[in-house]
Amino acid sequence: MTRCLDPPSALTATMLTTYGARADAALARVLPAENQPPNDLHRAMRYAVLGGGKRLRPVLVYATGTALGTSLERLDATAAAVEIVHAYSLVHDDLPAMDDDDLRRGRPTCHVVFGEALAILAGDALQALAFEVLAHDPALRSEQGNHVEMLRTLAAACGSHGMAGGQAFDLGAVGQRLTADELERMHVYKTGALIRASVRLGALAAGCRDDTALAALDRYGHCIGLAFQIRDDIIDVEGDSAVTGKTVGKDAANAKPTYPAILGMAASHNQLTELTEAAIAALQPFGARLHELVALAHYVAERAS
Ligand code: IPE
Ligand code: IPE
Ligand code: MG
Ligand code: MG
Ligand code: MG
Repeated sequence: MTRCLDPPSALTATMLTTYGARADAALARVLPAENQPPNDLHRAMRYAVLGGGKRLRPVLVYATGTALGTSLERLDATAAAVEIVHAYSLVHDDLPAMDDDDLRRGRPTCHVVFGEALAILAGDALQALAFEVLAHDPALRSEQGNHVEMLRTLAAACGSHGMAGGQAFDLGAVGQRLTADELERMHVYKTGALIRASVRLGALAAGCRDDTALAALDRYGHCIGLAFQIRDDIIDVEGDSAVTGKTVGKDAANAKPTYPAILGMAASHNQLTELTEAAIAALQPFGARLHELVALAHYVAERAS
């Protein structure tokens, strides 16, 4: 049975619009100008980051950080850093050596426009920029207790036990029939890690040093991060390219092990329901304070793009 892909709630739509616009402005500020040499590299970096994308990871930073009592201004650098890492991961993910995709956010992919070599360099430079932005921010530098932990959190999410490791599992799994545990690990690494880190970074930027609270937020981030990639797999089967801005049906064409391919569509939807409930349950100790994160958990599992 094909289920309808639900539109976001009013609260989520507002968050995506307002926090998303704030993230766009922060990103435009920290990216090097196109007229600065090497111009082509800077054009490719700006192309990859600006002009599209849901900005979910910055939205998670803003929603978590403001709920824990800090200002939007103090979250801008963190929001920009997580989105820059994400944009870099998409540039490399789309390369011919990886998923070989030519459509992203409704436009030709970075390597199609700028060539493979420049796309690789743009990804490299974006990853470095994310850490520079996070390391340099004056507001975070004054939060000395959490600043190094923030840098560690982002680094871990990028590395071989995070996004890059997950991409390695993904490439190694082409044409394989993974077990449910292997599939979950791949998704938790390649996509879950950065989403979980975005929530944790929002809390750390707000000065949170309560290990119990951070563990609860990590649990929430883990659940929605895995759910996000399961939904991405489902959208690749049921979605509409005009809505997603990506070519649909690519996972099957590339013989990727996905939740629908391995577990079937009904079980994939059941997993989404269970993960959403678990994510929301993890937020209970905070009371109603994190209601934006509750709305975002629903959005992650129900989104159409
Ligand atoms: C796509 O991420 C890649 C995955 C990790 C599944 P998004 O669906 O967040 O892509 P944008 O940023 O909105 O384009
Ligand atoms: C991408 O997963 C995960 C990343 C770390 C970029 P996918 O390969 O499924 O993402 P899309 O579908 O191309 O956006
Ligand atoms: Mg991929
Ligand atoms: Mg891909
Ligand atoms: Mg996908």
